[in-house]
Amino acid sequence: MSDNTSPTKGYYERHIFFCLNERPGGEDCCALHGAKAGFDRCKSQVKAAGLAGPGKVRVNKAGCLDRCAAGPVAVVYPEGTWYTFIDNEDIDEIVESHLKNGQIVERLLTPPELGR
Ligand code: FES
Repeated sequence: MSDNTSPTKGYYERHIFFCLNERPGGEDCCALHGAKAGFDRCKSQVKAAGLAGPGKVRVNKAGCLDRCAAGPVAVVYPEGTWYTFIDNEDIDEIVESHLKNGQIVERLLTPPELGR
């Protein structure tokens, strides 16, 4: 992990946003596909690995990211890498491989054609 003292560096080295959008009336959305469980798992794994905080990693909730057809989705910046995940194993791999070591998890990449 790099330090965050340079003004050209981001406050966080990596930032992951999880869509937790919930639509009324049972309409399809990430919330219906385990988004909150993925967010909670990511948050706890990042903390347990000592990755949380300035100069390191931040895990945030987001509203609809407009890629609902691929949900549940999360996006990692600064790379702008989109993931579609299913279970804890997927989240753990994103944390260990991408958030910790900067290696994209190819098998979980959101298909580029999937949008809303
Ligand atoms: S509901 Fe999650 S991307 Fe739209």
